[in-house]
Amino acid sequence: MRIAMVGAGYVGLVSGTCLADFGHSVVCVDKDPAKIAALQAGRMPIYEPGLDALVAENVRQERLSFATDLAPAVAEAEAVFIAVGTPSRRGDGFADLSYVFAAAREIAAALTGFTVVVTKSTVPVGTGDEVERIIRETNPGAEVAVVSNPEFLREGAAIEDFKRPDRIVIGAEDPRGAAVMGEVYRPLYLNAAPILYTDRRTAELTKYAANAFLATKITFINEMADLCEQVGANVQQVARGIGLDNRIGSKFLHAGPGYGGSCFPKDTLALVKTAQDAGTPVRLVETVVSVNDQRKRAMARKVILACGGSVRGKTIAILGLTFKPNTDDMRDAPALSIITGLQDGGARIRAYDPEGMEAARPLLSDVTYASDAYDCAQGADAVVIVTEWNAFRALDFARLATLMAAPVMVDLRNVYTAEDVRRRGFRYTGIGQSRAAAVDADPDPGLPVMRRD
Ligand code: UDX
Repeated sequence: MRIAMVGAGYVGLVSGTCLADFGHSVVCVDKDPAKIAALQAGRMPIYEPGLDALVAENVRQERLSFATDLAPAVAEAEAVFIAVGTPSRRGDGFADLSYVFAAAREIAAALTGFTVVVTKSTVPVGTGDEVERIIRETNPGAEVAVVSNPEFLREGAAIEDFKRPDRIVIGAEDPRGAAVMGEVYRPLYLNAAPILYTDRRTAELTKYAANAFLATKITFINEMADLCEQVGANVQQVARGIGLDNRIGSKFLHAGPGYGGSCFPKDTLALVKTAQDAGTPVRLVETVVSVNDQRKRAMARKVILACGGSVRGKTIAILGLTFKPNTDDMRDAPALSIITGLQDGGARIRAYDPEGMEAARPLLSDVTYASDAYDCAQGADAVVIVTEWNAFRALDFARLATLMAAPVMVDLRNVYTAEDVRRRGFRYTGIGQSRAAAVDADPDPGLPVMRRD
């Protein structure tokens, strides 16, 4: 099948490459000539494990190509995917659909023969109707079915998620559209991925509902973590205890500094706006949004407390900047609020991230970037794990202690246990690891921490 993917950003590039890998003939189109030139030269505009090799292989097999010119790719395609950005609109938080609508207009003008136009971008309910209206208005003779096919890819695991999805959701009003989509995903029948055929509006809402539910799950366990700290309980064991109940499930119950990224913050906000406009506010999700925003800021206070109540004049080493590991994405990363909060408190910041430092530079000021975790810890009064990269999972504590001004660790991802770290002579603060346990394990919490070298 011939496919045009409009937008070679994160979703478009991963989806286009994986569809080519299924055996389809895919052209990824993007307006940015520099991005297309880089892709043609084999350079990836984003960091996603395994993507460069998969792109190279499919380009070599001549199933995947890149272009800036939309019209010829669309004219030849049986299915055209819209995978352009839908950022939060400044001011009202509603999804900005201008790129989607502009793409729809351009696609409409280039259509030849029956074509399925698929919205893959995350779009508010009713966008498919508007895309169809725009196409029919721009090109009244076009033979077209407009379909919604939301993506559920996680950054860092996107290829695996595309090839082995939990489910595929297809929202189509026209059975011809549903049939073409069945062909697009036919290779996945082998993996027995369930395909849910539904109407367009239901498909659009399913995407938002899934992300809002997951954001709620994370926010729930984050609040339980705070409670654990106050009442002397352990959130990881609470999470395991509830997660083993099949009705709850064990995933997305890791307490941390609050969710970030390109999807959860934007999509929860967009769902809140859609629901308010529809006169049926989703109050639970509204609360999740505000609890998560406050949480990111509260993490700086947690670090300040771990440093004895003030960070003025102190050096704080931040390990991990991206919103999660295996990505270079800094969008809505908790590190941004944490670093700003610490700087407001008078701290000097050293930071290290395996992939995110380039993206972080324009977003943060007065940060000294380090070459690895140990360089980052030089002279620091505390080391703070913000993102759980593998490189931070087996740190050499003895080496850290010789480098730091004080052996203090704040572990916002519970990479370590309090017992482990304290045994190595560090003061430790985790997330939802009870204060009571902390006091027990620390022989004399009142003593000043001495430099260990
Ligand atoms: C998410 C959805 O998982 C995906 O289906 C959707 O298409 C896009 O949004 P992504 O943003 O790439 O994917 O990352 P995800 O792994 O879901 O993590 C999102 C945020 O939640 C991260 O900041 C992560 O650190 C945080 N998180 C996740 C937790 O704090 N605890 C958890 O248990 C899980």
